[in-house]
Amino acid sequence: MNNELTDPYGRVITSLRISITQKCNLNCIYCHQEGKNGKPRREISLDTIVKIATSATEFGIKKVKFSGGEPLMRSDFEDIITALPDLKDISATTNGVLLSKRAASLAESGLYRVNISLPSMNEENYGKITGSPHSLSRVLDGIDAAIDAGLTPIKLNMVLLKGINEFEINDAIHFVDNYNGNVILQLIELMNFKNVSQYMVDINNVEKMLESRAAYIEERKMHRRKKYFIDGVEVELVRPIDNSSFCANCNRLRITSSGKLKSCLMRNDNLIDIKEEATADEIREMIIKAAKIREPYYKNNPNRLWAKHEITNIA
Ligand code: GTP
Ligand code: 5AD
Repeated sequence: MNNELTDPYGRVITSLRISITQKCNLNCIYCHQEGKNGKPRREISLDTIVKIATSATEFGIKKVKFSGGEPLMRSDFEDIITALPDLKDISATTNGVLLSKRAASLAESGLYRVNISLPSMNEENYGKITGSPHSLSRVLDGIDAAIDAGLTPIKLNMVLLKGINEFEINDAIHFVDNYNGNVILQLIELMNFKNVSQYMVDINNVEKMLESRAAYIEERKMHRRKKYFIDGVEVELVRPIDNSSFCANCNRLRITSSGKLKSCLMRNDNLIDIKEEATADEIREMIIKAAKIREPYYKNNPNRLWAKHEITNIA
């Protein structure tokens, strides 16, 4: 495709990540509040979301991920999905608390799949992490409802936390095994956005453990994330910190919940404001500008060197 969006580092943008609200019904100790940038001026409207997604498709972007806050806090989420242009992948990342009642309507609206935060299956730990111990059973119901609705493959997101859930990896693998390939376990390195360095797990040890147990390992193009196949269960590792390969293979452009184009999760200093009244032409120009200012956050780590060939050599 010749009108694709390529940033100055040769990274082609293929997906859009849209935060549709800052509101959340949990209060996780680690939350990076990805949709947040200062006080919410307003919540991005359905019309603006559709205008941005439509412009994005003109650049060959065919994948949209919705996040929050908690995207299910928006009662018009189904309407937003219904109004989208034709896309290859529409997914959402949710905490799952409100999912059991919405999974069927979300699937009917055109949502393809969901990722669900499940930092622990132990009620006490779940409560410690999310501030809401009694929500765990609702999340588990949400997983079942999502499977019934065909929102698969479901990824269960487990941010690893030292002294809290670090010893639950095995339980999580067994749990996922019950879902006959419909569920993927996603282990995530904690990003220290909220003064939570005391919970950082040594991710090298986790990686070694996964390597030693895996029947085979694959690598995704996006972020060069590794997938370990253990006892028939797919375990994906998200390892962003100090990881130049991760950034070198980042293909995402983000939209904050108040409608700003954001070139990197880690940065809030170069946002581009898309006003509600912006025309299709103006949005197109802003998307081009956002691509131009994209820069890998980690690009100089000597152990994980930034190298342009890394982009092209991966299947
Ligand atoms: P899919 O593979 O398309 O389902 O997306 P995903 O796994 O990236 O989505 P999800 O929202 O479940 O995010 C999983 C973890 O990856 C979370 O901890 C995200 O914060 C992290 N993540 C996703 N994209 C980025 C990124 O661009 N930069 C960084 N540093 N972390 C990211
Ligand atoms: N570090 C890593 N992952 C995080 N998430 C939220 N905060 C953090 C953090 N500080 C993950 C959650 C959620 C996804 C959108 O981001 O697992 O599912």
